[in-house]
Amino acid sequence: MTAADFTTRPLVADDYAAARRVADDWFGHPVGLTMHRLFFDQLGPYGVWIGRNETMAGLLLGLPSAAEPDLAYVHFHVVDPALRGGGLGARLYRDFGRAMHARGCTRIRALAQPRRVGSVGFHEALGFVGTLHPDYMGPGDDRIVFERALPLDESRA
Ligand SMILES: CC(C)(COP(=O)(O)OP(=O)(O)OC[C@H]1O[C@@H](n2cnc3c(N)ncnc32)[C@H](O)[C@@H]1OP(=O)(O)O)[C@@H](O)C(=O)NCCC(=O)NCCS
Repeated sequence: MTAADFTTRPLVADDYAAARRVADDWFGHPVGLTMHRLFFDQLGPYGVWIGRNETMAGLLLGLPSAAEPDLAYVHFHVVDPALRGGGLGARLYRDFGRAMHARGCTRIRALAQPRRVGSVGFHEALGFVGTLHPDYMGPGDDRIVFERALPLDESRA
């Protein structure tokens, strides 16, 4: 199976329940309100669902920045651990990046905890450049702020 066997669409409110059922397992820790329902109910159309035969294989929560109108911001994205390494994560980013670029965004940003080596490797593979920001989320809670230009490379989509 390849990424081309999966379909993508905007998120809808009804995706929340299925996402809540799997998110902690897929992340490997409780995600809590980081995956707030408002991302589905109110911001859903900016997000991306990927799956096959109605079964969710991953999702991306993101939005165009209100503070920086040229910026697309990825808040959260995850792929079913059983399906990782097959291009689904990159496909989520490409779909989101394409939609945001069509709205006029020329940059895309995402955060990563420095110890989450998978997320760091993923963003570097997609051509993001990361800058370490000590205490970004509060004392002792550092983040790498990853950013790159849009559009993303579509040749591998
Ligand atoms: C990060 C994540 C979404 C990647 O999904 P994926 O479907 O496995 O990613 P892809 O197969 O599309 O990989 C895209 C590129 O990233 C690279 N990559 C993916 N996971 C990687 C890892 N753990 N380490 C290094 N590179 C990695 C791939 O090699 C690929 O590079 P290439 O195109 O040069 O071959 C997935 O590992 C995940 O859900 N992790 C847990 C949740 C998380 O950390 N989310 C991010 C913070 S919100």
